[in-house]
Amino acid sequence: MENVKDKIERLRRELEAHNHKYYVENAPVISDRDFDMLLKELEALEAAHPEYDDPLSPTRRVGSDLATGFEQVPHLYPMLSLANTYSIDDVDAWARRIAESLPGESVTYVGEMKFDGSGISLIYEHGRLVRAVTRGDGAVGDVVTDNIKTIRSIPLTLSGSGWPERFEIRGEVVMPWASFERLNAERAFNEEPLLANPRNACAGTLKMLDPRIVAARGLDAYFYYLLGEDLPADNHYDNMMAARSWGFKVSDAMTRLDSLEAIDRYIRHWDTARRELPVATDGLVFKVDSLRRQLNLGFTAKSPRWAVAYKFPAERALTRLRSVSFDVGRTGVVTPVANLEPVLLSGTIVKRASLHNADIMRQLDIHHGDMLYVEKGGEIIPKITGVDLSRRDPAAGPVEFVSRCPACGTPLTREEGEAAWVCPDKYGCLPQVMGRVEHFVARRMMNIDGIGDETVAALFAAGLVRDSADLYDLTADRIVGLPGFARISATRIVDGVRASLAVPFERVVFALSIPGVGETTAKKIARATGNIDELMSWPAERLQAIEDVGPRIAASIVDYFATETNRRNVERLRAAGVQMAVAETDAEGRTDLLGGKSFVISGVFALHSRDQYKELIERNGGKNVGSISKKTDYILAGENMGPAKLEKAMKLGVPVIDERTFLAMIEQA
Ligand code: IVH
Repeated sequence: MENVKDKIERLRRELEAHNHKYYVENAPVISDRDFDMLLKELEALEAAHPEYDDPLSPTRRVGSDLATGFEQVPHLYPMLSLANTYSIDDVDAWARRIAESLPGESVTYVGEMKFDGSGISLIYEHGRLVRAVTRGDGAVGDVVTDNIKTIRSIPLTLSGSGWPERFEIRGEVVMPWASFERLNAERAFNEEPLLANPRNACAGTLKMLDPRIVAARGLDAYFYYLLGEDLPADNHYDNMMAARSWGFKVSDAMTRLDSLEAIDRYIRHWDTARRELPVATDGLVFKVDSLRRQLNLGFTAKSPRWAVAYKFPAERALTRLRSVSFDVGRTGVVTPVANLEPVLLSGTIVKRASLHNADIMRQLDIHHGDMLYVEKGGEIIPKITGVDLSRRDPAAGPVEFVSRCPACGTPLTREEGEAAWVCPDKYGCLPQVMGRVEHFVARRMMNIDGIGDETVAALFAAGLVRDSADLYDLTADRIVGLPGFARISATRIVDGVRASLAVPFERVVFALSIPGVGETTAKKIARATGNIDELMSWPAERLQAIEDVGPRIAASIVDYFATETNRRNVERLRAAGVQMAVAETDAEGRTDLLGGKSFVISGVFALHSRDQYKELIERNGGKNVGSISKKTDYILAGENMGPAKLEKAMKLGVPVIDERTFLAMIEQA
């Protein structure tokens, strides 16, 4: 009979093999359900037998909340960058130089994708992942092992044979297009700003403090560089194939190239074929295959001489400008937008592109009817990068920025040193007035179910709503009969408005649209002042004492409440029953005992959970920070604080306190 230990080990091996089949080979052999059953079985056994615990078990890939700020370690070999080239000729010149420095020998190159994500270095010992480090500044990186472990295609324990006792493997953590699009769809739903490209999304994700969030983000990783002393082969290509056999994902695009012609063909092929790949690439990389030759060629200060990157040209299209329109936002900022003849660009049809502001528009010097270059260079929002002057109609004059608000006709103003032109008629200009109501009802503010931008427009058109307080006077009877509104949708709106009376004061402050006051600042202001009467009466100097509130925001708050329209709206909201003070339970127990001091939490605690400590720190006016620096005031350490962290704390002279000492600090309340 198989004993428990053997069974646990067998299940771990089986699950890792299935992970590999699914995430590396894209060829699962069991159903998701069967996989989950095996995983559950292993979880149960591990729970019953903690003596066989292994931090690299496949059950640990989901991430726990135990990760702390990131420890920093030096790289064994510096993580360098690559010399960039932008044309086939440049790559040929590089390859020729190499061939000439090795007269009489034929040189083999390896062609591969240049993945556009975050560089990562993994250290394996005895076939087990021991550490994952980001590129950092090339010399020192952040240890992100807990986050890396959540990436299912990365082997935690190796399969096959022939791996060196200790080695390093480098690759790129990427966010596949599908994960990127899902993430942005989610962000759009939550009305959060969209991420510009998968590279930024990926870098941000790797630095998240909570590996459970990382696990949910759907990252992947490709490997392209093996380092160490007893590598299996004397050439790059065979080493990568060996790495593939140990379980690493190595791109199928990696191939040996024996001549300049082969390199040229490779570039021509991938220039277009890369669009079919599931992940973002920004070019190709060519490397000298032989490790002996790599050694002879060596490095410059910044990059290896034995490798070169070829960057794909940014995808660009040429199309005609139909018109420039000027959009007025909620804050009155006027943004020029180019309306284009629809054109296909990296798989999507582009009709509009932002021209950002008057300065950028002037630099581009756009004339009516110009042919414009639109680029997507890895960003999701297309931008105009230039004009094809050869096709300009000499009679067409330049497109001028408007001097009056396109919505209300008020002359625009611009503040000293700012790029944006603004319509100053905050309370008369429809897009601004309506924009503030749209902001008020949105998810992250009052979250009024049943009302979106279109409903706001309909309510404005019918004259039922002019400001946020009007929402609380709506009745189903008044809404029914408006074009497109039946009893059901009318009731939903009224119910949604009523439910918003429970929204906490912190969000009400955000919902008010005080210029410059975003979500986080609103929270801080609400908590510092406690209620609307305080908030309305605090002078600028007092407001400035609140964290995140500088002279500009303080002045903006004072100005906001000095305006009669706003005061009247607030009074009507109060009369309707909107929350105008922080909830009792929340106000209680809030102190400033920690007075803005910053804490790094590390290790495992006995008396409270990590999250409770984080909460206690914030409740008492302290700040949680991710990693130890000179500016850290305290390290709150539990059991098993990492030795490297301890050493860093000592070096920087940051006091390390235990949980009892911490509790004593806030006990004085
Ligand atoms: S080799 C010493 N190969 O590009 C040379 N790098 O611009 C080590 N990258 O830091 C790098 N795909 O993060 C190499 N196939 C590939 C790559 C690649 C993406 C990244 C990597 C590197 C950066 C250099």
